[in-house]
Amino acid sequence: MSRNANDQRPPSHKSDLNTAQALWRMYPYVKSAVPRIVLGMVAALIAGVVALGIPLILERLVDGPLSTGDSAEIWPAVLLVLALGVVEAVMIALRRWFVLTPGTHVEAKMRNALYAKLQDLPVSFHDRWQSGQLLSRAVSDLGLIRRWLSFGIVLLVVNTVTILIGAAVLFYWNWLLGLIFLVMAVPIWIYGFVFEKKYSEIARRSQDQAGDLATAVEESVHGIRVLKAFGRGRYALKNFEAQAEDLRGTEIAKAKAIAGIWLWLLLLPDVAFALCLLGGIWLASTDQITVGQLFAFFATATVLRFPIESIGFLLSMTFDTRTATDRFFEVMDSPNAITDPEHPLTVAEPRGELRFDNVHFRYQDSPERFGDLIDGVDLTITPGETMALVGLTGCGKSTLTALTTRLYDVTGGAVRVDGVDVRDLTREELRTHIAMAFEDATLFSATVRENVLLGRADLDPRSPEADRVLAEALDIAQAAFVHNLPDGVDTTVGEEGLSLSGGQRQRLALARAVAASPSILVLDDPLSALDVDTEALVEAALRRVLSSTTALIVAHRPSTVTLADRVALMQEGRIVAVGTHSELLATNEHYRFVISSLEDEEKREAAERRRVGVAESNADAEDTRTEGDAERDIQITEAVRQGLDDTHPDRDRDDKSNTGMEVNR
Ligand SMILES: Nc1ncnc2c1ncn2[C@@H]1O[C@H](COP(=O)(O)OP(=O)(O)OP(=O)(O)O)[C@@H](O)[C@H]1O
Ligand SMILES: [Mg+2]
Repeated sequence: MSRNANDQRPPSHKSDLNTAQALWRMYPYVKSAVPRIVLGMVAALIAGVVALGIPLILERLVDGPLSTGDSAEIWPAVLLVLALGVVEAVMIALRRWFVLTPGTHVEAKMRNALYAKLQDLPVSFHDRWQSGQLLSRAVSDLGLIRRWLSFGIVLLVVNTVTILIGAAVLFYWNWLLGLIFLVMAVPIWIYGFVFEKKYSEIARRSQDQAGDLATAVEESVHGIRVLKAFGRGRYALKNFEAQAEDLRGTEIAKAKAIAGIWLWLLLLPDVAFALCLLGGIWLASTDQITVGQLFAFFATATVLRFPIESIGFLLSMTFDTRTATDRFFEVMDSPNAITDPEHPLTVAEPRGELRFDNVHFRYQDSPERFGDLIDGVDLTITPGETMALVGLTGCGKSTLTALTTRLYDVTGGAVRVDGVDVRDLTREELRTHIAMAFEDATLFSATVRENVLLGRADLDPRSPEADRVLAEALDIAQAAFVHNLPDGVDTTVGEEGLSLSGGQRQRLALARAVAASPSILVLDDPLSALDVDTEALVEAALRRVLSSTTALIVAHRPSTVTLADRVALMQEGRIVAVGTHSELLATNEHYRFVISSLEDEEKREAAERRRVGVAESNADAEDTRTEGDAERDIQITEAVRQGLDDTHPDRDRDDKSNTGMEVNR
């Protein structure tokens, strides 16, 4: 909410197409709706023509029976006017009926396409785009397009045609008056073109700012706990107000632009009316026009008033829609580099070998001078093996794990599953081989059952097999707490699982990865939010699963490391050592340093827990543990730490500029 939204948004601009071309891009979505839209236009056009026909009868009425006083002829004329009025009303109703549904269909189709595209686009796209921008495109922009299709385009076409026919009729009544009326319309057209340029720029700005505002709301609602805890509500409000004020300024500029064109649209017809009235009186007094014709002229001009006045509004709506279309296609046109191969390979009999082959990776927006974040990783995790990945914060552990499921694609080298490059598998197949649990456990607003079985599309969630998989996964993840929820496994958890504790969320995310029963399990620090007792239970249960599954576990706790067969030590984007925990402790200084840092952190966390009085018993267990099983490790690492320089640069620095301690010492 505090960040400058404009810096985060990918460059947005009006497309180079003209308005008609830009709108035409919607055609594939609109195609099936065209017949109804055209029928709506025809109905509206008939209504317009009928309305223009009424003055014809009025002229006969005024010049005929009204001047002669022949009452017998009045009634048929009046009834005819009435009948035409009814036809006009029916046609207007028909227009509404025809155009009501196509807009909603098109909107739904475009929204589904946008959603599918967002699902398909790689994580790197979502890194760059604000969720509020995407939200406003999916909701308000598409709503605008629906309204335009439902009546904007119909009225724009019909009213333009009505104005043209009406102008011809005016000329028919009297060419001089018609000419006066038409000449007065010229400034409106000129202004209309100027208006287009100015207005579409403001419209774009306003829609982008509305997207930024949506992001601000989304972020502050999402981060409400942090804002409240730090008492930053007022600060967030100030930021929001500033952004809202920007949007308000743009909306006022937009309103002023619209007011400008309205001024012409209201003023000029009035002036035209006045001039025509003067001319008409003179023409009538010199017998160049009958009173009936003059009357009919004004009746026609009156019919034309609404179409003329509405043009400004319809134009602004059309330009708004053009902007909305541009914004829609900006997302739809985003290329997706992470796609399925043309000729996919398959792993027929998965063994579960995961290999990193000279893997290089850099984030798209990372400056060239920083070099590769993952800088030539060679690592093989053999089938059934559990490998822990350890390193200082920011060294690239999460990034490396993300490459396994192609959340990002490597920029050099390859990640292979059973010898097959992950880029040669379909993404669907790849995800049956590898399941992941992330650092921040995200759950969906769905039941516990749906959340845990997310990766098991092959299972009917109500089948006994699904029940079995669910029970086993919950058991391994020590997530028995779900049975105490109001509806057990069928309880809907809140948005992003926020109604659960961090540890509970993590356990469900872990259960989700386990339930996918992959041959390779990639766990990015899956136990960090658990207390030590629960962690030990999860570890014991995981050991059962992991005996048959290959696992890569990013560990932030020494106790998680003990779960592993081997440990890979990562430093500055490279694997600098691989071995068992005790081997590395004995031989690698950087490893000892990393482990001692992790222990420090663990102790800090435990102290914090004690301080806030949460999970006191867990904190006690923590103390027992340090005196218990891990005693030997602790002694070693304590000794190491005492030997370390207190001002060692590794201790405080967690960025990539951190050079290896072996070098420094
Ligand atoms: N989406 C991203 N775009 C650009 N840079 C990123 C992105 N994600 C992470 N980074 C950068 O990559 C580096 C490594 O991040 P990564 O999350 O892989 O570290 P980590 O080893 O998992 O750290 P931790 O132990 O804190 O979880 C960091 O410097 C981070 O700023
Ligand atoms: Mg990480």
